[in-house]
Amino acid sequence: MSAKIISFMNRKGGVGKSTLLLLTAASLHHRTGKKILVIDADLQKSILGLRNEELDSEPLSSKPFEIKGFSWAKNSPGDIPLLRFHKLIQEIEEKYDFVLVDTPGKMEGEEIPLIMTVSDFILVPIIASSFDIQSTIDFLEIVPPIREEKAKEGFDLRLLGVINKRDRSLEHKHLEALEGIAGMELLQNHISNLVRYKRDKSTLYDLVDVSGQQDEYNLYFNELMDKIN
Ligand SMILES: Nc1ncnc2c1ncn2[C@@H]1O[C@H](COP(=O)(O)OP(=O)(O)O)[C@@H](O)[C@H]1O
Ligand SMILES: [Mg+2]
Repeated sequence: MSAKIISFMNRKGGVGKSTLLLLTAASLHHRTGKKILVIDADLQKSILGLRNEELDSEPLSSKPFEIKGFSWAKNSPGDIPLLRFHKLIQEIEEKYDFVLVDTPGKMEGEEIPLIMTVSDFILVPIIASSFDIQSTIDFLEIVPPIREEKAKEGFDLRLLGVINKRDRSLEHKHLEALEGIAGMELLQNHISNLVRYKRDKSTLYDLVDVSGQQDEYNLYFNELMDKIN
C-alpha cells in the first residue's frame, strides 16, 4: 500500500483549504472505510485545534481518523523542517490509503515545491473575491516543472481546482478561464457560499445528503472520488 497524498493548497488564505479538507476527510473516513491521515501543516493548526477540543470535551462517538500536526518552524538548532517533512511522509506512506495535507496560505521558499513533490494530487480551492488572476497563475505555474521531474520517476501530479464560496456575482464567470492552466482540471461541481459549510461542527462531521437528492457537496465529493481513484 502506498498512500495517495492530496495537498490542499493556494497561496491565498481564506479560500477554504481547511474547510474543504476537513469535510473531504470526514466523508472519506465514513464512506470508504479506508485509512485516512490528516497532516495539519497549517500555521494556525485549526484542524488539530478542533480535534483537541473535541477530545477534551467528550469521548468521540466513533473511532476518528488520525490528525498529525506539522510545524515548519525549527524546533531545535539542528532541525531542518524540510527534511523532517520528507521523513514524515516516508514514515506514513505505507500506513494509510489517503493522506490529506493542510498547508499555510502564506509560504515562502522551498515548502511549496516540497509539498508539491510529495503529492499525487493538489486540490486548489479558488474563490472569486480574492481572485487575482496573476498571483493564482503564478502559483499554478510552479507545478509543470515539478510534474516533469516526477514523471521521470514514473509518478503523476494532478492539479484539481475547486470553485468555493460560489455566489451569483459575475466575477465567477472568469474563474472558468483557469481550466487547463498548468494542466489544472477544474471540477464541474462548485461549492456555494453557505452557512452549512461554515459551522465548526466536528472533525468527523460528514455532510450526508439529507434531501435524498444529490446536493452540490455530494456531487463534488463523488466527482473528486472519480478523479482520485
Ligand atoms: N463554501 C463556504 N461557504 C461559507 N463559508 C465558507 C466556505 N468555505 C469556507 N468558508 C469559511 O471561510 C473562512 C475561511 O475558510 P478556511 O477553510 O479557514 O480557509 P483557508 O484554510 O484557505 O485559510 C472560514 O471562516 C470558513 O468557515
Ligand atoms: Mg487554513
